[in-house]
Amino acid sequence: MDDIKYDPNKDYGTPKIVSEKMVTLTIDDASVTVPEGTSIMHAAQLGGVTVPKLCATDSLEPFGSCRLCLVEIEGRRGYPASCTTPVAEGIKVKTQTSKLADVRRGVMELYISDHPLDCLTCAANGDCELQDMAGAVGLREVRYGYEGENHLGSTKDESNPYFTFDPSKCIVCSRCVRACEETQGTFALTIEGRGFGSKVSAGNKDFLESECVSCGACVQACPTATLMEKSVIEAGTPEHKVTTTCAYCGVGCSFDAEMKGEEVVRMTPNKDGGANHGHSCVKGRFAWGYATHQDRITTPMIRKSIHDPWQKVGWDEAINYAASEITRIQAKYGKDSVGGITSSRCTNEEVYVTQKLVRAVFGSNNVDTCARVCHSPTGYGLKQTLGESAGTQTFDSVMKSDVILIIGANPTDGHPVFASIMKRRLREGAKLIIADPRAIDLVENSPHVRADYHLNLRPGTNVALVSALAHVIVTEGLVKEDFVRERCEWDSYEAWRDFVAKPENSPESLAKDTGVDPQKVREAARLFATGGNAAIYYGLGVTEHSQGSTTVMGIANLAMATGNVGREGVGVNPLRGQNNVQGSCDMGSMPHELPGYRHVSDDETRAEFEAAWGRPLSADPGLRIPNMLDLATEGSFKALYCVGEDIAQSDPDTQHVTHALESMECVIVQDLFLNETAMFAHVFFPGASFLEKNGTFTNAERRISPVRRVMTPKNGYEDWEITAKLSTALGYEMKYNHASEIMDEIAALTPTFKGVSFKKLDELGSIQWPCNDEAPEGTPTMHVDEFVRGKGKFFVTQYVPTQEKVNGKYPLILTTGRILSQYNVGAQTRRTQNVVWHPEDLIEIHPHDAEDRGIQEGDWVGITSRAGETVLRATITERVQPGVVYTTFHHPESGANVITTDNSDWATNCPEYKVTAVQVSRVNQLSNWQQEYQEFSESQIHLTGILPAKPAVVE
Ligand code: SF4
Ligand code: SF4
Ligand code: SF4
Ligand code: FES
Repeated sequence: MDDIKYDPNKDYGTPKIVSEKMVTLTIDDASVTVPEGTSIMHAAQLGGVTVPKLCATDSLEPFGSCRLCLVEIEGRRGYPASCTTPVAEGIKVKTQTSKLADVRRGVMELYISDHPLDCLTCAANGDCELQDMAGAVGLREVRYGYEGENHLGSTKDESNPYFTFDPSKCIVCSRCVRACEETQGTFALTIEGRGFGSKVSAGNKDFLESECVSCGACVQACPTATLMEKSVIEAGTPEHKVTTTCAYCGVGCSFDAEMKGEEVVRMTPNKDGGANHGHSCVKGRFAWGYATHQDRITTPMIRKSIHDPWQKVGWDEAINYAASEITRIQAKYGKDSVGGITSSRCTNEEVYVTQKLVRAVFGSNNVDTCARVCHSPTGYGLKQTLGESAGTQTFDSVMKSDVILIIGANPTDGHPVFASIMKRRLREGAKLIIADPRAIDLVENSPHVRADYHLNLRPGTNVALVSALAHVIVTEGLVKEDFVRERCEWDSYEAWRDFVAKPENSPESLAKDTGVDPQKVREAARLFATGGNAAIYYGLGVTEHSQGSTTVMGIANLAMATGNVGREGVGVNPLRGQNNVQGSCDMGSMPHELPGYRHVSDDETRAEFEAAWGRPLSADPGLRIPNMLDLATEGSFKALYCVGEDIAQSDPDTQHVTHALESMECVIVQDLFLNETAMFAHVFFPGASFLEKNGTFTNAERRISPVRRVMTPKNGYEDWEITAKLSTALGYEMKYNHASEIMDEIAALTPTFKGVSFKKLDELGSIQWPCNDEAPEGTPTMHVDEFVRGKGKFFVTQYVPTQEKVNGKYPLILTTGRILSQYNVGAQTRRTQNVVWHPEDLIEIHPHDAEDRGIQEGDWVGITSRAGETVLRATITERVQPGVVYTTFHHPESGANVITTDNSDWATNCPEYKVTAVQVSRVNQLSNWQQEYQEFSESQIHLTGILPAKPAVVE
């Protein structure tokens, strides 16, 4: 089976079947051997024979409606459809006979008689299966004429910003409907009516108003121009393609950038993509226009003070100015007065050279990354318990799960393509437990999916809930003791067991903290421990707490105690927010670790890097982002090199961050846009978009995927080149000719990346690390026979309530999250038509809390915390529980981080974004901060000498 070679550019008509048993048949006199269960159509394709088809495509289950794929089988009556008929041993199939040709021509004649004959001017000309099939069956005339009743006058739906629906071209093959159901799991489309009157409907609404989430699966599946990308209609058919990786979330979908010269015409999800298998979400599929947005700054700029106008300069001048400032500041204030911040939006290669610059050239370990504010507790917690700071599975592993526990994550919004895989498994019958303060869509708002248990805990009580689940597992004898004895440190298990078994850790005792019905907790724990393969998926709702690291360890404890690690279908799976959170951590972007999570104090590791880099390295962990900011306000941290990160918007306690930035003498920002941090900068290095550079991203399943340059960088350089130039200007030449050479250096110095190279990535498509001599093609599942640390280690996870308390003044808890159409600080998605779906951040409030405060839907409300105040529009919903309010943070003017506090995780300083005590009341004007922000932001845009950015059009 494995030796069957698949061509990703071919459509095999029906999905690939995996079976141990092989079947041999004859198709058009040639013998073909395929796995049992394969369709005749698929077998024919494998044997090099193409059967005409319209309603079949290999991403969808066969449907058998168009009757174009009929074949003859010797000894059988009639003409079975090859897409729905499975192979059988010894059968003899004919796909081309004169009778079949007549039938097929007849079918095509009917289709064409109700289809506009505008092929030459149609956007799908040359890329239309109907056109291809008319040619394939030799259609020469249409006898029925076009005078009769037809659909040619149907109205086009152009409501979706990215694709059109032209019903006059629809052949009602249902591929779109099935794609929406099977691939995406949204069920937005149906076929309404019968016979001639049957038509595709988005619930009798236009696409924009419908349940559609704009994933593009239906557009991809449509064999005609009925569903068509607007970009193709405008630009014409692409003429070449380059495979690359989405620059948005941690799913890491593979895409073909379909190009016309240097212009992207369409991003098409790659069938061969290890993470996405040809699926996509609205961001990766459609929201790439920011890369050429008018707001992009492509010329370097410098200025002495943040109140001066920006001066556009050449690259050499900008680089030399930045280098001279760093040299001046280090000479005056010491080498520790300077640091660098990398971003999870950067490639592995960019992160690697940035941390190298800080360590080898700045001479300190003052480098940190935005993972500090999202998944640093994952790094810490999983390293302690399992021995490796990464998720244990592939995404596909969820197809073998029987029980799925989601804690503090919202996959349908945050990780949509993975959510689609997960929903497929749930529709097949896997059980679902959700621990979340808010009723995310998977609780009961996703068609054919409903959580078996929603443990709607109070924000900030994850550790208590995990302990309560563990209590039930331990006290009811549900521990997989054999697994624990063989695979884990028994002493650590005993200590943990005795701890969680204490009466104060029972669901009943902890209900006062969590607010969750103890009976529900007991039932969920039993299901998790006894329901078969159980997998845990978690997100920032776990990590962004004062006890984030404790919860991560608690999650690992649960998985180990129930034997759910080390095989498919189980595991501990952090859902990483940004595309390269995993990679940026792997690449040594934290102040205490060199690439590969090796501590800077380890003499042997340091010696290895010193030998390779030719510079002495500091053994002392450097400053974390919060330390840099604190020291900046105190006056000893003076210069920052910030690559691809926007701390002024994304980090907590905005006033503190901006005060710190204002206190520095040289802030160097490298980005696509004049982001919030750049407004406090003295040097601006324009960055390259993901379409303009080579490199790699590593997704949440440790999958290293290629990022490939499809157009010339508008700013002149790939980002790693800019860092290398700065390094050279500082007296340390970084000699790389191509990003691949950086990866070669990473591989030479990082044991888990030892076998990785661009060449191998080109051959395999993607590689899950560890990739080394023992696993030359990578490691899909980790900890199979033993944990990376040898024996798994349990940790006692004492619940310590957060210091952030509600009281009479601040009676509500604010928690935060993401929405599908926007991405993180929104710098990219706000510059696309995605703003149609989410033009502003709203505050969700429960009807009881709204009524108490006289708040109506759409009212402006002030949200006041101990840190600050901001104003947002209210939306009233039972998604949030009484006492809890919720917002997203995609628009800078929302000031979500003006109100978050500077509390943070005890182990990693990851901010406690998810718990802020607030009061909410009706107001009629923006907060002081918002008014000042507006003024400052406008003045800063003015200082660039470009016109104020126009917001993306909202219609
Ligand atoms: S819109 Fe396209 S995919 Fe859907 S039924 Fe019509 S032709 Fe088929
Ligand atoms: S774009 Fe996606 S969600 Fe919308 S109708 Fe098509 S398949 Fe369904
Ligand atoms: S944003 Fe995430 S899920 Fe969407 S296409 Fe990109 S990688 Fe895939
Ligand atoms: S392709 Fe088989 S019936 Fe349509």
